[in-house]
Amino acid sequence: MPSAPAAAPHVFVVFGATGDLMQRKLLPALYALHTEGRLPPGTAIVGVARHAMDDATFRSSCVRSLTADPSTKEYDARAFAESVLSYFPLTGAAGQDYPALGQRVAGLEQQRGLPGNRIFYLALPLEAFPPTLQGLGEAGLAKAPGWVRVVIEKPFGRDFASAEALNALAHRYFDESQIYRIDHYLGKETVQNLLVFRLANAFLESDWNRDRIEHVEVTVAESLGVEGRAGYYETSGALRDMIQNHVTQVLALVAMEPPARRNESDIRDEKVKVLRSARRIQPEDVVRGQYTPGTVAGAAVPGYREEPGVPADSTTETYIALRLFLDNWRWQGVPFFVRTGKRLPEKSSRVVVTFRAPPVSFFQSERDYDLNPDRVTILLQPEEGFEIAFEVKVPGRELRVQTHRMKFHYSDVFGPLPDGYETLVEDVMLGDPSLFVRADEVEESWRLYTPILENPPPIVFYAAGTAGPAEADRLAESGGHRWSTD
Ligand SMILES: NC(=O)c1ccc[n+]([C@@H]2O[C@H](COP(=O)([O-])OP(=O)(O)OC[C@H]3O[C@@H](n4cnc5c(N)ncnc54)[C@H](OP(=O)(O)O)[C@@H]3O)[C@@H](O)[C@H]2O)c1
Repeated sequence: MPSAPAAAPHVFVVFGATGDLMQRKLLPALYALHTEGRLPPGTAIVGVARHAMDDATFRSSCVRSLTADPSTKEYDARAFAESVLSYFPLTGAAGQDYPALGQRVAGLEQQRGLPGNRIFYLALPLEAFPPTLQGLGEAGLAKAPGWVRVVIEKPFGRDFASAEALNALAHRYFDESQIYRIDHYLGKETVQNLLVFRLANAFLESDWNRDRIEHVEVTVAESLGVEGRAGYYETSGALRDMIQNHVTQVLALVAMEPPARRNESDIRDEKVKVLRSARRIQPEDVVRGQYTPGTVAGAAVPGYREEPGVPADSTTETYIALRLFLDNWRWQGVPFFVRTGKRLPEKSSRVVVTFRAPPVSFFQSERDYDLNPDRVTILLQPEEGFEIAFEVKVPGRELRVQTHRMKFHYSDVFGPLPDGYETLVEDVMLGDPSLFVRADEVEESWRLYTPILENPPPIVFYAAGTAGPAEADRLAESGGHRWSTD
């Protein structure tokens, strides 16, 4: 078997180093790469934020974050921090901060004998992306003796116009090949495996079309509420937070044509074509919901409007369900139902592909729920894997039919999977952009949702702990379909 490619040593600069994403996701991912020997020798990580702090304080806070995982020993975390991590505080004077950061990076390169490769990871709020890109560009940091890559977190814009403007600004300083727009869903094994599952199993691919498939569902359900992040959520809502990025990426992988070649540009070309084929969304295709007080996992929880920091008359959606159509040869007439929501009964992300019923119905299933049971379910979280539901005869003289499932769960076969961030961070180090979102992809996905952003339908309500508003059920049922219940 060929050995895994090795990344070149570099300086990895994280803007937003004191934030939740760095401390909870990026740092553990970088530490895992280090302990597995996949962080290139000599690589230095520089945390950047506006908070004034010295290296020692930053390292201690990182050790605390890493040892929040009980399997991480303090001694090892500290050794990692001492050998790899340092901190650079921003003063707010862009004209001085970025040249000074450049000098710090160059100093580390000289000290460690590094070839001048640099990654700038923007783990920042949306409003900080433009000044940071500009600061880097104006200070000449988009170029270096080696390669330079810039990673931009989601959300990439708030709508089509702002995404287009952010792309234009980024392209003023960086070539598209240097830009890695991250969507951490693409780092999940099951999401990557969507293509393998579809294209390496001929029995599926030959049925993966309008002739055999009745409808496709993508569900991203959360049991949590806004968890003290009302300030952010009020400016976002479910459409911007989940649908425009994660759900749309999953949908594109489910629906895309097989690429001519297995390379990043052909795969991303096919994903863009899916988005371009989407029919303009009509108001009757959309249900926007908001949770009211209810019970989740046995505990009473407040409604969204009672959460701290949420205005009493907020019309931000905490739930959204959509019916989409793709006007192309493969999917003409097949509805794609997508939904996401907070304060639903449990956390579950899945794609459910429901096949058409046999042309002649000889048998009646035991449960009404299973009238059309042939389904492939792709589990994204918390479980990752696939399940295929089918009908079998119950043994005995009487002809009874029951639905059963064949299950493949990754964890049963391969043990724990790496976090999506570990995969994606290593891909940036290796210079592989396949699992990142290209400029035209991000703009097309914002364009698709523009009718809802410009003219949002009124909010309907659902009690926390229920499966969402009744209007979402009616959206599916009006075409004779049904959301999956498991
Ligand atoms: N947290 C997650 O799980 C998660 C998941 C997916 C995507 N994301 C995305 O990742 C980004 C960061 O999220 P987060 O949860 O880490 O946010 P956060 O906890 O609010 O942290 C933001 C970080 O950015 C720094 N910062 C804020 N404003 C800045 C500015 N104007 N210039 C420079 N630095 C600034 C903050 O430190 P100072 O105030 O000291 O500068 C802090 O280090 C966001 O775009 C978010 O949407 C987060």
